[in-house]
Amino acid sequence: RRPVILDVDTGNDDAVAIIMAATHPAIELLGCTTVAGNLSLEETTDNTLRVLNAIDRSDIEVHTGLSRPFAPRPYTSGANEVEDVFHESTLPVGTSGLQPFSRHGVEWLIETLRQTTRQVTLISVAPLTNIAAAITVAPDILDAIDEVVLMGGASTFGNRTLAAEFNMFTDAVAANVVLRAGITRLTMAALDATHEVLVSRDDLHRYRALGTRAGDVAAAVTEYYIDGYEASVSPVGAGSSAPPHDALCVAYAIDPKVLDITEAYVEVDTVSPHNYGRTTVDFHGYRGEPANARFAKHADSARFHRILDECLRGTCRA
Ligand code: BDR
Ligand code: CA
Repeated sequence: RRPVILDVDTGNDDAVAIIMAATHPAIELLGCTTVAGNLSLEETTDNTLRVLNAIDRSDIEVHTGLSRPFAPRPYTSGANEVEDVFHESTLPVGTSGLQPFSRHGVEWLIETLRQTTRQVTLISVAPLTNIAAAITVAPDILDAIDEVVLMGGASTFGNRTLAAEFNMFTDAVAANVVLRAGITRLTMAALDATHEVLVSRDDLHRYRALGTRAGDVAAAVTEYYIDGYEASVSPVGAGSSAPPHDALCVAYAIDPKVLDITEAYVEVDTVSPHNYGRTTVDFHGYRGEPANARFAKHADSARFHRILDECLRGTCRA
């Protein structure tokens, strides 16, 4: 089984990522760290605990991480917000008020990676604040990481602003810290790929018909998510569907064939008011820099749906 730590800002697509990581037998979920992003740190932590509780996996440790970006954004956000309406404070699942295992997510991350004798996969589906902080304080932890898989970036257009994807925009400096850390295998599930996979209202009927806790919870949070996309001005989603961005990272950890990867040098803009948080993806080597990322341009939608269905059915192949 692949040992995984999942960093989340739950958030609705984060919830599906958590469900997949907590249910698929190919993954051993060592714990979750939470960070501010979609919502405040208190809300992302509470949502994470409630999702795990709702699928009977409260045994998985949740550690509260950082409540503010690694570096403050120098510009106020412009009027070009694209997807900013669908994150209400609580998901429609489970009990609120559960307590995290600790409030020291970054320290837990460092200790766990220093103590492990195995190579761990770090999946980040949130602003990269916790990861950048951990790497800065303890660069030696990179030795214990076989791969960082992150949801973030875009080589085309953004979803938080015209230019920037949400996780990159929310903590652009942290993203650059991670991209420049010398991580040997850094895989980015960017919007290019995540927008190729949609979950529709028809899929929700199928999840509910499974009669499993995981199916019911995934259907509830995704229905709420699709409602949000419907109300947003996002060009993605076609009214009755939504891209489950974060879930694609976990699907990739289960089956790497789900992403079509191209190696490239990637950096994040932290200086331009209009392009703040935009990822520059140098597919053609114009900058002459060595590749620092494995950038997903495409995703295999049918394969993703097969993996997600397996997780929700509770009959995954080991
Ligand atoms: C990312 O932003 C968040 O809103 C989602 O949870 C996902 O991690 C998509 O750009
Ligand atoms: Ca997220």
